[in-house]
Amino acid sequence: METRTGLADRLRTGTKQAHRNVGANPLLRALLAGSLPMAGYAALTAQYFAIYRTLERHAIHWIGNPIAGRMLFPELPRAARLRHDLTVLFGEGWRERTGAAIRPATERYCAHLDRTVRHWPGGFLAHHYVRYLGDLSGGQLVRRALSHNYGYTGRMASTFYQFSCARTVKLLRDRYREAIDTAPVPVAEQRAIVAEAELAFRLNQDVFAELGEIYSG
Ligand code: HEM
Repeated sequence: METRTGLADRLRTGTKQAHRNVGANPLLRALLAGSLPMAGYAALTAQYFAIYRTLERHAIHWIGNPIAGRMLFPELPRAARLRHDLTVLFGEGWRERTGAAIRPATERYCAHLDRTVRHWPGGFLAHHYVRYLGDLSGGQLVRRALSHNYGYTGRMASTFYQFSCARTVKLLRDRYREAIDTAPVPVAEQRAIVAEAELAFRLNQDVFAELGEIYSG
């Protein structure tokens, strides 16, 4: 039987305030309430594409790693789905139009990922946790809101939020927490991982804040 390190709980507890802060963001509130204009949703999708493309480029490098490779489930990658959503939102010229739409906060986030997660498996775990477990958690509330408020469904511009059925999502969440909880990470490094996850929340918040000034101000 594998040893549990408590990292899953430590991450949840240690990032609680950061999660609360990001959850109060006006752009996300507008997205959940259905008041974010379509252009804002499209711009957010473009930022996500840049972020997930960066994360998933690094993920390939970590396959099989006992710390950074445990939670790389095949159901998780999002870049191909974002590419699909962007084609729906922007049409065939999406690459040029979204390339031009990448905001400075997104560039800073991606540059930080490139600096940090290439050589530090624990850092990769922290950033992966914040985005992908978030997508499997609050992201599912966003999925429901998109379908309810905008009429977006899985085949349209919101495949990013789709992970098959609700039962699968719950199973994935449980497996995810189990994977990070059995990663052989010493307690001293766990503290650094929690700090990196807090930073990941702040980098996300900066992206939302910058977009919010334009689309939900
Ligand atoms: C208004 C927006 C948001 C809402 C309403 C929301 C809601 C939630 C809820 C209800 C959970 C708990 C699920 C559970 O206990 O199983 C959760 C978990 C989580 N959320 Fe959010 N969330 C939001 C935004 C975000 C954002 C923007 C991120 C990341 C950038 C994020 C990252 C996470 C993570 C990592 C977890 C997992 C916590 C854990 O179990 O360790 N959330 N969210």
